Amino acid sequence: MFKVGVLSIISMIFVVRAFSYDLDASSGSLYDKYGGQAGVQKIVDESVVALLADPTVASYYVVIGQSGHDTADRLKSCLDLQFTVLMGGLGKYPGVSHYRNAPKRGYTCENMKVAHSDLGINNQAFDQFVMILGSVLQRAGVDRKDVDILAPTLLGLRSDVVTKTILP
Ligand code: HEM
Repeated sequence: MFKVGVLSIISMIFVVRAFSYDLDASSGSLYDKYGGQAGVQKIVDESVVALLADPTVASYYVVIGQSGHDTADRLKSCLDLQFTVLMGGLGKYPGVSHYRNAPKRGYTCENMKVAHSDLGINNQAFDQFVMILGSVLQRAGVDRKDVDILAPTLLGLRSDVVTKTILP
């Protein structure tokens, strides 16, 4: 029932925006409204836990910590930056993230196409991923109308993230 609710919010949204942006934090941003950096990090932490608890999505994350792939710290740090920007906080994505235990020079977070190019992600996994994020946002107290504001940007990443369109 809840899953259907989140899916219907997402499926009602048609606007697609590019995922490269540079926004200034301004009063009234979703970033400020939902607790600034502490709020973003809580959303990212809870998203990672929820994504890893889902069998469809979790299987893609076995690469974390392997050579040539993200560490868990880098993944969370880049997600922090991405959600900060997405919610109207300061920064630019793709860009350099200093969140978490980033090295002094920061993590140079990749654009979505490059970050997901060798993962073989299909549409089903993408839909599940976005639905999980929607659930986490709502559990974190983000108003439904604000989830509706964020969802189009996330959904707009499909063509960068999905590389496997023919099912086995
Ligand atoms: C709205 C959609 C998505 C967003 C915003 C997103 C965001 C990110 C970010 C910020 C990174 C880190 C990039 C870097 O280290 O430079 C990343 C990496 C990763 N994402 Fe996503 N992602 C999305 C969809 C997905 C989906 C659908 C899956 C799998 C089902 C997935 C699996 C992964 C994995 C496994 C990595 C690590 C890649 C590696 O280390 O080689 N992502 N993602």
